Amino acid sequence: MALASINPTKLTAWNKLKSLFEKEKSNTILHHFKNEPNRVDDFSVQFDELLVDFSKHRISKKTLDTLIELAKEAGLQKAIQDYFEGTPINKTEERAVLHTALRNFDKKSNIKIDGKPVYTSVMQTLQQIEKFSDALHHGNWKGYSGKPITDVVNIGIGGSDLGPNMVVDALKYYHTQINTHFVSNVDGDHVLESIKHLNPETTLCLVVSKSFTTQETLNNANTIRSWFLKHTTQDQIHKHFAAVSANVHKANEFGIASENIFPMWDWVGGRFSLWSAAGLSIACAVGFKNFKALLEGAEAMDEHFKTTDFSENIPTIIALIGIWYTNFYEAESEAIIPYTQYLQKLASYLQQASMESNGKSVDRFGKNVNYQTGSIVWGEPGTNSQHAFFQLMHQGTKLIPADFIGFKNSLHGNEKHHDLLMANFFAQTEALLKGKSIEEVTQELKAQGKTQNQILALLPFKVFEGNRPTTTILGKKLSPRSLGMLIAMYEHKIFVQGVIWNIYSYDQWGVELGKQLANAILDDFKTKDYSKHDASTARLLDIYQKS
Ligand code: F6P
Repeated sequence: MALASINPTKLTAWNKLKSLFEKEKSNTILHHFKNEPNRVDDFSVQFDELLVDFSKHRISKKTLDTLIELAKEAGLQKAIQDYFEGTPINKTEERAVLHTALRNFDKKSNIKIDGKPVYTSVMQTLQQIEKFSDALHHGNWKGYSGKPITDVVNIGIGGSDLGPNMVVDALKYYHTQINTHFVSNVDGDHVLESIKHLNPETTLCLVVSKSFTTQETLNNANTIRSWFLKHTTQDQIHKHFAAVSANVHKANEFGIASENIFPMWDWVGGRFSLWSAAGLSIACAVGFKNFKALLEGAEAMDEHFKTTDFSENIPTIIALIGIWYTNFYEAESEAIIPYTQYLQKLASYLQQASMESNGKSVDRFGKNVNYQTGSIVWGEPGTNSQHAFFQLMHQGTKLIPADFIGFKNSLHGNEKHHDLLMANFFAQTEALLKGKSIEEVTQELKAQGKTQNQILALLPFKVFEGNRPTTTILGKKLSPRSLGMLIAMYEHKIFVQGVIWNIYSYDQWGVELGKQLANAILDDFKTKDYSKHDASTARLLDIYQKS
């Protein structure tokens, strides 16, 4: 059974939300704080190491309760059950969506796909990952000249790159002696720049491609193979390649030994695959123990999501808040601002996870939606971003709800730096909330000795209206476990929004057309006949070939 189809705009709760929006849209967040004495408690959830405070939003308690009614009316509870039990909720590809099974260490799990127990294959693969990463760490995996491997290159793109790449970067503090590199872009400069300083004798490549047909990945893998072949012979190449793929046949054809091919399953979407062998580079970078801790963090969040009442359920609440801004305030985007440099790739990872999943305009009835769906996700770490785009967030014309992610403890323990960082973290959400009033600016300018005329002239520019919404996510420390929880939290947020927007979140047909056209253009380069293209493209292709 697939997910039930609903039209969210026809639900009773949606219509209640419409009238609530009309009534409350001019109320400020500060007004809600004044009106609701228990707001800080009512609008925050502590789970495990994470405190999520969503009190700084343009949402009254009544609206939040109505959003929860919406989730219930949309059948979220049943959808969660289907999601975790492996019902084929990815209907257009007739697949289950079971990335949660990759981190389910509960021996009693009895999910089966095509009659095969998922738990057994997942655990076997985890053992394979452990054996492989241990062999590297103990120097037992030797290259063609007998030297141990020092560098691992992950060759993949999209979900076969962004997740592992983000996690490896985020957990730099926990790195072992193995250096990890990522090659994704079909731009030859990316691959050649990446291998420029590598020693082929001590380099191992992981070709990560669920389909093993992705143009970028195969071309990069071929280029690296040619680089190896300048230094060694074909019969030695197997010492330098492993693959992660659902297409074992193609990986074999490429020349990768069967014992070095790790499985990927069609019930795991590429953008949710970092928990599988697609995350092999993570285990190589941080060791298997830390990889497992990452999975356990995600498992804890899964349990929270599955079993907690919606009123205390973090992924559900943040998803509903997103729906409130997207569909009622008509906000177009949301920002992710981690206050740790280690999470510098989080926003681009979440961009794919969210935008490839919920960037859909056809609903589960197969009809065009007449409401907004997935929003634009972007962001950069603070404090750098404060000196880049925060001006627009504070005083621009756009409404941009933002997630601020910070940790109580730094990893290297420099308290002076950490206090500075976190002072900014708290100050920005406060500034976005409160703004700066006419009175405050007037006082400030008076204190600076400005005349009345100067004050009047400057006032409009210096006043901040505030009322800009933020969620604060405060963790104890960035660790494999807390990172696992954080990523799973966003994965489930994406799921909840897809359920309510009545779209299929787990396919990605929209990326196919560009791939097809690129292949057609490659053929046209040979014939130099561009007549079947539109006038602009034909002219550009002609200019490109002449230069
Ligand atoms: O961008 C489309 C996509 O299919 C992603 O969903 C996927 O993560 C990526 O391409 C790479 O695909 P593959 O792992 O099959 O090489």
